Amino acid sequence: MIQEKNNVFVLSNEQFSYLLRVTDEGRLEHLHFGGPASAEDADALTCQYGLGWGGTVCEKGCQSPETRPMEWSGSGRGDYRETPLEREDGSTDFRYIGYEILSSVVPMQGELPQAQGPAETLQIRMEDTAARLRLTLYWTVFDTAVTRRAVVTNIGETPQVLRKCMSTCMDLNGVYEMTTLNGSWSAEAQRWTAPVGPSRLVNESTVGFSSAQHNPGFMLSEPDATEEAGRVFGFNLIYSGNHYASAQRSFHGLTRVMQGISPDHFRWALASGESFETPEAVMTFSAAGFNGMSKAMHRFINEHIVPEAWRYRPRPVLYNSWEGCLFDFTQGRLMKLARKARDLGCELFVLDDGWFGRRKDDTAGLGDYDVNKKKLPDGLEGLAREVRKLGMDFGLWFEPEAVNEDSALFEAHPDWAMTEPDRETLYGRNELLLDLTKEPVRDYIVESVGHILDTVPISYVKWDMNRNSAALGAKAHRYILGLYDVLRRIFGPRPQVLLESCSSGGNRFDLGMMCFSPQVWTSDDTDPVERRRIQQDVSYLYPLSVMGAHVSASPNVQTLRDTPLFTRGNTAFFGVLGYELDLQDLLPTEEKEIRAQIEFYKTYREVFQYGSFRRLKTVEGYAWQVSRTEPECHIAAVF
Ligand code: DGJ
Repeated sequence: MIQEKNNVFVLSNEQFSYLLRVTDEGRLEHLHFGGPASAEDADALTCQYGLGWGGTVCEKGCQSPETRPMEWSGSGRGDYRETPLEREDGSTDFRYIGYEILSSVVPMQGELPQAQGPAETLQIRMEDTAARLRLTLYWTVFDTAVTRRAVVTNIGETPQVLRKCMSTCMDLNGVYEMTTLNGSWSAEAQRWTAPVGPSRLVNESTVGFSSAQHNPGFMLSEPDATEEAGRVFGFNLIYSGNHYASAQRSFHGLTRVMQGISPDHFRWALASGESFETPEAVMTFSAAGFNGMSKAMHRFINEHIVPEAWRYRPRPVLYNSWEGCLFDFTQGRLMKLARKARDLGCELFVLDDGWFGRRKDDTAGLGDYDVNKKKLPDGLEGLAREVRKLGMDFGLWFEPEAVNEDSALFEAHPDWAMTEPDRETLYGRNELLLDLTKEPVRDYIVESVGHILDTVPISYVKWDMNRNSAALGAKAHRYILGLYDVLRRIFGPRPQVLLESCSSGGNRFDLGMMCFSPQVWTSDDTDPVERRRIQQDVSYLYPLSVMGAHVSASPNVQTLRDTPLFTRGNTAFFGVLGYELDLQDLLPTEEKEIRAQIEFYKTYREVFQYGSFRRLKTVEGYAWQVSRTEPECHIAAVF
């Protein structure tokens, strides 16, 4: 619900209240983000304004803007804390013009994906008459979260350049710790907590994608918050490119927190009349500790982020050919695996990599879509038909954003690859990225993937991407907009295709991808001892329904650790279960155990995928619990 009374805006939902006010000077002041509150509480929630002293710059009555909790800040005009918006020349100082309250989501103007579903939106219009810029801020209130975004419009006659434009900015009263999820390939999402102090804490990706290095999601919590008690804020960004978030405590006890696209190399030219729109930031709050916050975020993602056709829809148990076969397969070998997978209880057979063009290994073939007839003489159609005859669905791997130089596509269109003509070419996994800012490139991908989806009975796509970007700044953002255009054009008309996004595991595990992709491959690390930590830390901000989790062979190919099948199964149950190993190697006892695992998972899959998940602290570490109320069911695992 959104209400306005005496210039105070009250946004409230099942989870929290959020209050802001228009000040006498026409700025936006942050009043409250936390437990239930109303417009009548506004005065009690107001921070005492500090007086100017020393070098502070004062406004009338000698009040210093630097001491006030803001909902958006200017730059160079008295509030010298970090600014959410920088233009190339000069300061900014936006003043309130008016507002609207709308009874729905307000659609984005461009390609960026956004949260969907029942919601109300507060839209506040502000203007900086000297800078000739208009700012429209949006707060969209969902049942357990609020999203924020900004639109900046050049209302002058001359072009302008933005160097930074955040999605959200606010000053929270209190002392907090910031927790981020950091890592690398095969070691994603390692939780890191640091006190928010006078030096700025920054969580930022500069690799071109949301990255395994620094996931865009983060938390702020009271220092003594536990899994079950204490005030915890959860933040995220509906975006798959370079992101930025910061937290910094002022001398006056206010924590300024902001989030948006990374300003690293960012320059966005705005011609007269043009607008720039930021991605949506997501925020939630719970006084019931980290589990309370996670529950609110999980529900928000399950109900407002993943595509409608897949909301709360049970996900199939899959078999993936990658770790079992790599590039070494024939139709005969695949069918043997498919038969075994079906006998064990798998519902979906996924052919991962190696099926097209010159793809003998990872040095060749990316960019091409003609099937390798030596491996698959009956084509994809023939293989899919045989798999479906077994009573299983068929899924296929693609890596559409990349090209190998050893491919027909590169030979025909070398200029479609992102390289710098005056520099030595840099490769990641022997590949280059295609320039998705170019329309013909996007059309080629949409037509190539679309044609296969329309001619082969495919119910699942694994969309991989295996290198960091070569694009900087504004081009990096345009690349991501191009990617969203491609995903929308391919999967919008084909909502029944289940998309699992992957980027060398979890290099693009973000809400932007999840708007198209109901599940994401969490990590290439399938060693259950390491996976346990990765899945646990991911669970702070993402639900189990989005985490691809597979049982693989032992010893593990990545870590060489030997683990019991029992442990591998128990870990993968807490996610979307799959199997990824050579099934021909299994002992009869292992086959029996896998059959029992799949049967157990199918019986309780809705509890695992959509139940309420809690991390339980034990003397020795953590245990996990998933629960459902009707019919009541609790499943716990102690690791
Ligand atoms: C990287 C992915 O993370 C793996 O799961 C697999 O799909 C390979 N690419 C295939 O090349």
